[in-house]
Amino acid sequence: MALKDEVKYQGAQALDALDQRGGLVDFHKWFLFRNVPRGLSWLHTLGFCLLIVFVNQALTGAILAMHYQPGPDTAYESIQRITMEFDFGWLVRGMHKWGASLMIVLMFLHMSASFMMGAYKYPRELTWISGVLILAAMFAMGLTGYLLVWDQRAFWASVVAINLNGTAPFLGPYISEFLRGGSEYTADIIPRFYSLHMLLIPGALAGLIGLHMYLVTRLGVTPAPWKHDDPANDPEAWS
Ligand code: HEM
Repeated sequence: MALKDEVKYQGAQALDALDQRGGLVDFHKWFLFRNVPRGLSWLHTLGFCLLIVFVNQALTGAILAMHYQPGPDTAYESIQRITMEFDFGWLVRGMHKWGASLMIVLMFLHMSASFMMGAYKYPRELTWISGVLILAAMFAMGLTGYLLVWDQRAFWASVVAINLNGTAPFLGPYISEFLRGGSEYTADIIPRFYSLHMLLIPGALAGLIGLHMYLVTRLGVTPAPWKHDDPANDPEAWS
């Protein structure tokens, strides 16, 4: 057997073995090879764009975390070093910073597109609700990340945001107290926000995005409103 055929054969064997144990092929088919309605547009690609920017945030964030030092005397200096001294540090930091803004813009576009398509209605209410939770978690990522730069702007912007939170009814004061780690602003807020920004919120986000994707895959995407009456978009006609 030629080397190329041998490699192909061994590859197929390995995939087959994995499939028998983990159901890879079924999952792959279920996840990627689905019927989609007729008349999809570029507006339906916004969710995937968000996934790509999310991966960018995770990767650049992991690299930044290798050099960032979350302490009152080290945070600002470590960020200066990342930007000025490390190879391509400016690029990684820039990708993370601008990626965060891009994510918010894309999220509003994706949310508006889903709203205009009526994708929040039955049977996709849970997809919408998981999206709203993702939105809240993303805002929390923005808040906790902004402080980490630890310059005057970052500090005072965070003070204003946390105080504003405190004015919300019922839960507001508790959330503020939790974010501050007490009733006073101290330097302990840096490791606190770092842990929230690095571990807690991304963990929750990964779970929520997983749920969002599961629901999108299970329910399929909504056809554009002007294609609702297209007989080809009747799910009964697909099977
Ligand atoms: C990190 C944030 C998000 C990611 C990665 C994401 C990802 C996706 C993807 C890949 C799709 C399928 C393709 C598409 O229609 O674009 C989708 C659909 C959907 N998303 Fe999101 N999404 C996010 C945030 C949100 C938010 C904030 C909302 C609303 C509050 C939302 C509501 C929906 C709805 C209702 C659908 C179904 C659309 C349809 O049936 O046509 N998503 N999302």
